[in-house]
Amino acid sequence: PLRERGAGSGFVVVANRLPVDLEKLPDGSSRWKRSPGGLVTALEPVLRSNRGAWVGWAGVPDVDVDPIVEDGLELHPVPLSAQEVADYYEGFSNATLWPLYHDVIVRPVYNRTWWSAYVQVNRRFAEETAKVAAEGATVWVQDYQLQLVPKMLRMLRPDLTIGFFLHIPFPPVELFMQMPWRTEIVEGLLGADLIGFHLPGGAQNFLYLARRLAGQPTSRGTVGVRSKMGVVQVGFRTVRVGAFPISIDSAGLDEHSRRRSVRERAARIRAELGSPKNILLGVDRLDYTKGIDIRLNALEELLAEGRVDPTETVMVQLATPSRERVESYIQMRGDIERQVGRINGEFARVGYPVVHYLHRPIAREELISFFVAADVMLVTPLRDGMNLVAKEYVACHSGLNGTLVLSEFTGAAAELRQSYLCNPHDLDSVKDAIVAALTDDRETRRRRMRSLRRQVLAHDVDRWARAFLDALAQGQVAGKALMAD
Ligand code: ADP
Ligand code: G6P
Repeated sequence: PLRERGAGSGFVVVANRLPVDLEKLPDGSSRWKRSPGGLVTALEPVLRSNRGAWVGWAGVPDVDVDPIVEDGLELHPVPLSAQEVADYYEGFSNATLWPLYHDVIVRPVYNRTWWSAYVQVNRRFAEETAKVAAEGATVWVQDYQLQLVPKMLRMLRPDLTIGFFLHIPFPPVELFMQMPWRTEIVEGLLGADLIGFHLPGGAQNFLYLARRLAGQPTSRGTVGVRSKMGVVQVGFRTVRVGAFPISIDSAGLDEHSRRRSVRERAARIRAELGSPKNILLGVDRLDYTKGIDIRLNALEELLAEGRVDPTETVMVQLATPSRERVESYIQMRGDIERQVGRINGEFARVGYPVVHYLHRPIAREELISFFVAADVMLVTPLRDGMNLVAKEYVACHSGLNGTLVLSEFTGAAAELRQSYLCNPHDLDSVKDAIVAALTDDRETRRRRMRSLRRQVLAHDVDRWARAFLDALAQGQVAGKALMAD
């Protein structure tokens, strides 16, 4: 009723964050910069090629900015007050859901005030989206911060086709059952027509919970990757549940990494590091799920045992600041910085640190040069939904001259089987993987990288988006046919 016919966008993405953050500069002015994290890395190229609208928060509290249009992409900022940032974003999203969904590496805090804020902010996102979407539009809701939006939006706008994708792991049933508002969350998600997870295991966990908590009949068969979806029958509606592993703009990154400017910068990086034989690299948001402490522990023991030589090996850890006011993040930052200091105190020479640590976001071209320069990429999360950094590293090694050490506890490990896989809970396994990555003969390393590249180049983010959106559209056609019968 609020909309005029023909107005609004036919394709709308809804995510907690916009692809750009508003940055307030000391002189009082402001500018837009790229938002952190894998969700934005993956979705930005998809939206640019689809033209549509993006509903999200501008990353700073208490600002109400008008929608902006950039290259045919409409950005619709949703304002959050400072209190909502504390309760909905830092609280419920990142001190309750984030640790619960990542295997309770840190203990989740269950706080009723935070939950109320989560409900209230989810409603605001749903209302804003209802205003932006055209009649019959497709809306794609993203990630754990917005799990109630599908149901709220359906109640406001039954004409819409609604998809939901979870970018983080969906936890084992036993852990999910801790959540005091578990039924509300499952019912919130069931407002969607299609619910996507990275892995079949997550989809399967969700199907079980839809039966158990929402009391809805579901299919029982196993869910496949981009195929064989599960089904939940919610009254007359059929909700489909599937596995869609996300990816990157592989070809774009491959091309960028071959540019002469990147090659030259990579060579300069090696020279600036003192021309070591081996460069080990870590690239992450500073997050306790990423296992940065684990790779540092592994390196420290390898140095102490003389299995790695500090005169020919350098580690670079690039860490983007993240969720800096959340207690567990403050603590972890202190721990990691002490650990870096201890390793250098023990093993560095003047002018030649063993570990180089930068706590700031790195510009894209510079980051790609680091990927190209690194001999061994260390990706050691205790739990990660996918981990795009692993795929980015692979896409940057057309010369087949790099090695990837990868935790089994990432979504990426399901696809990147030819990496040097390790169990981050078993320090010996991490150390052995690093040593193998450093010492295997050249042909073995090249063979492994060739196989990884085949995987990453064939399964890019466009294919991910197409698989999800095609399944969403097909579900609609099938549903309409059923209604007509
Ligand atoms: P998450 O989404 O949990 O942050 P991913 O590995 O899936 O983890 O995605 C992280 C994204 O952020 C990647 O595109 C990566 O290149 C980028 N990134 C991570 N660390 C940095 C950094 N220090 N500087 C710039 N970009 C970074
Ligand atoms: C992960 C989450 C995203 C989130 C990103 C950055 O990728 O899945 O939803 O946007 O981390 O975290 P932040 O809290 O800064 O948005």
